[in-house]
Amino acid sequence: MLDESNKKYHFIKLLVTGLKKYHHTTYLHSVRVSHLTYLISQKWGLPKEEQIYNAMGGLLHDIGKKLIPISLLEKPAPLSELEYEIMREHPIDGAEMLKLFPPLEELVPAVLYHHERLDGSGYPFGTNIIPLSAQIIGVCDSFDAMTTERPYNKKRLKSITEAIAELKSQPQKYNYKVVEALEEILKERSDVRYKNI
Ligand SMILES: [Fe+2]
Repeated sequence: MLDESNKKYHFIKLLVTGLKKYHHTTYLHSVRVSHLTYLISQKWGLPKEEQIYNAMGGLLHDIGKKLIPISLLEKPAPLSELEYEIMREHPIDGAEMLKLFPPLEELVPAVLYHHERLDGSGYPFGTNIIPLSAQIIGVCDSFDAMTTERPYNKKRLKSITEAIAELKSQPQKYNYKVVEALEEILKERSDVRYKNI
């Protein structure tokens, strides 16, 4: 018989293994975002449970992409308005997926709000009330998207310096303190400077 905490890890493993099989690029992105999110939470000395919560949220933040067709996830051209609309459903789809596994329901806010921005310009709700977990994940998510290669999208990658500068130039959208913490971690630790950066 699994206790509550083992059940939680069992379900996470199930979902993440499914994501790995479905779209390996999104899986790798999620692992990197989870790691960076954890390091920021650790650097700030957040309670251990919160560090783990944020890392799990990072790991599952894009789980809703399992419902997006691969042809769309890997489209090498700009998305149409309808396609973009489908793509923007993934935080809600992810939250709905988590609700199917009651021990994971507590992770819903981290997943649901990771594309919201402080000025209300994000999605799906356009709210400026964003849980800290989702603010940290949002910064790490954008940083990773700017600095790592997607096989189907040959856009020019940004260096660490360029990506951090871009995030810092938008304090109305991204939590500045999170960006500063990320910058410090990237300076201190060579093991989180993933390939291509
Ligand atoms: Fe996302």
